[in-house]
Amino acid sequence: MIQARLGFVHLITMKTLLCLFLAGIIAVVQGQNCTTYQVPKDFFFAAATSAYQIEGGAKEDGKGSSIWDIFTHYYPGVITDNSNGDIACDSYHQYKVDIQNLKKLGVKQYRFSISWPRILPDGCTKSFNWAGIDYYNNLIDELIDAGIEPMVTMFHFDTPSALTNAGGWLNRDIVDKFGDYARVLYWNFGDRVKNWLTINEPLSISTYSYCGLGGSVSSAGNFTMQCPWAKYLSAHYMILAHAKAYNIYDRYFRRVGIVLNTGWYNPATNSTEDIAAANRARDFALGWFAEPIFFGDYPKSMKDGIASSISNRVAFPYGIPQEQVDGATIRTVLYPHPQGLRNVLNYASQTYKVPVAVTENGYSDGTGTLNDTSRISYLRSHIIATLQARQDGANVEGYTAWSLMDNMEWASGYTVKYGLYHVNFTDPNRTRTPKASASWYTNVIAQRSIDSC
Ligand SMILES: *[C@@H]1O[C@H](CO)[C@@H](O)[C@H](O)[C@H]1NC(C)=O
Ligand SMILES: *[C@@H]1O[C@H](CO)[C@@H](O)[C@H](O)[C@H]1NC(C)=O
Ligand SMILES: *[C@@H]1O[C@H](CO)[C@@H](O)[C@H](O)[C@H]1NC(C)=O
Ligand SMILES: *[C@@H]1O[C@H](CO)[C@@H](O)[C@H](O)[C@H]1NC(C)=O
Ligand SMILES: *[C@@H]1O[C@H](CO)[C@@H](O)[C@H](O)[C@H]1NC(C)=O
Ligand SMILES: *[C@@H]1O[C@H](CO)[C@@H](O)[C@H](O)[C@H]1NC(C)=O
Repeated sequence: MIQARLGFVHLITMKTLLCLFLAGIIAVVQGQNCTTYQVPKDFFFAAATSAYQIEGGAKEDGKGSSIWDIFTHYYPGVITDNSNGDIACDSYHQYKVDIQNLKKLGVKQYRFSISWPRILPDGCTKSFNWAGIDYYNNLIDELIDAGIEPMVTMFHFDTPSALTNAGGWLNRDIVDKFGDYARVLYWNFGDRVKNWLTINEPLSISTYSYCGLGGSVSSAGNFTMQCPWAKYLSAHYMILAHAKAYNIYDRYFRRVGIVLNTGWYNPATNSTEDIAAANRARDFALGWFAEPIFFGDYPKSMKDGIASSISNRVAFPYGIPQEQVDGATIRTVLYPHPQGLRNVLNYASQTYKVPVAVTENGYSDGTGTLNDTSRISYLRSHIIATLQARQDGANVEGYTAWSLMDNMEWASGYTVKYGLYHVNFTDPNRTRTPKASASWYTNVIAQRSIDSC
C-alpha cells in the first residue's frame, strides 16, 4: 500500500466548467479548410530542456558524477555516436544566452532540470556543493528578471553515481535520499520556484534502465538480466520518492507534480477482448504510476496480469517488452498521432481530476536543418490537439515544446535533433541559431492563435 496524498486536486465544478467554456477556444473556419484556434488567456506556452542534455560542465566546480557520466564514458558503443554530455550545449556557462533565446520565443515558463550530483555530489546531504546552488540561483534569478517562470524537474535521469553504486532505484534508501534532496531544493529555491516536477518519466527509467529495453547494456549498470522484478521494484521506489517529496512540500501549499509519459492505446477492433487489451496497455503505462499516486494502489489489471504471468511463465522470453508480456498486448505504433495526445489529456484530466499540462512534446530530425517545416507541422498539430482537449473540457493548463535547443539526446547522442534552436556542436561557443520553428512558435505565442494550415 502506498502512502501518497492526492496531488493538487481540482474538482471540476459547474463554475470552472463555465469558465473553461467562456475562455475556451474559438475556432474560426477560413477558406481552404483552414481553421484558426484562439488560445485561452490562462493557457501557458513553455520550452524544455534537461540538465545532462545541455549543461556540460560535467566535472566543474565540485559536481559529482552521475550514471550518465559513467554510461557515456565506460560503455563504448551504447551511445550511437560515442558522444557524451561533458560539454553538451555548454549551458553551464551559457545559460544567459539560453534565457535571451527563451525571451525571444516569448514563453511564459522554462522547464529545466537540476542535476542532483551538481548539488549533492554523492547524492547525500553530507556532500553539499555551494557552487551548484549558485549556478541554479543565478539561472532562476535571471529567468525571473526576464519575466519567465521556472518549471523545475528535480530528477531527469541523472542518478548520482554514489547512489547507483549502492543499488540506485533498487535500494529503498534512495526514497529517503530523494526526500533529503527535495528538501534542499525547496529550502534554496522554493521562494522563487512555484512549479516543481519530481521525477521525469519513471516509466522510461524502470523500463529502459532497469529492464534493458532498447539496448544491450542497461544504463543503470548491469541490471539488464534482473528484469522484470527490477522494473517493478524501481518503479515502486520512484512512486514512493515522489510521494515523499510531495508530502515534504505539501505544507507550503505550492505545486508539486510528476512527469508521466504514456502512449494512447486504441483497440484494434471493438471486440470486448481488444477493448480490455487497450485498457490494460494504458494501465501498464499511465495507470502504473498515476493510480498509486492518486488512488493509492496499482491498477487491478496490472496486479492480475503480473500475478497470472508469474504463475504461467516457464521461461522469460528475453527481448519482448515486459509490459507486453505481463500486460499481454500486441501493438502497432502510429506516429505521429495528435488525436492520441488529445485522448490522453482528456483521460488523465477526467480520471485523476487534477490539472494537467504537456511538459514535453517535440519532433526530431537527424539534420538539424534551419528550414524545419516537418517540425512546424508536428508542433502545429499537437498544439491544436492540446487546445482541442481543453475545449473538450480537460483541465489542460499549458504546452511545453521539447526542446529549446538541439542537445545530447541520451543514447542517440547528438545524432537526433529536437531543438527550436540549432546548436553548432563543432563550434567551441556552441552557437545557437533559431530555426524556422522558433519564429513560428514565437508567432503562435505572440498572436495567441494558431492556424491548422
Ligand atoms: C477540404 O476538405 C474536404 C473534405 O475533407 C476535401 O474533400 C477537400 O479537398 C478539402 N479542400 C481543400 C482545399 O483542402
Ligand atoms: C553485463 O552482463 C553481461 C551478461 O552477464 C556480461 O556479458 C557483461 O560483460 C556485463 N557487462 C559489464 C559492464 O559488467
Ligand atoms: C468502434 O466503435 C466506435 C463507436 O461506434 C467507432 O467510432 C469506431 O470506429 C469503432 N472502431 C473500430 C476499430 O471498429
Ligand atoms: C523550406 O522548405 C519548404 C518545404 O521543403 C520549401 O517550400 C521552402 O521554400 C523552404 N524555405 C526556405 C527559406 O528555404
Ligand atoms: C560551426 O562552427 C564551426 C567552427 O566555428 C564552423 O566552421 C562551421 O561553419 C559552423 N557550422 C555551421 C552550420 O554554422
Ligand atoms: C566565440 O565567442 C568569442 C567571444 O564572444 C568570439 O570572440 C568568437 O568570435 C566566437 N567564435 C565563433 C566561432 O563564433
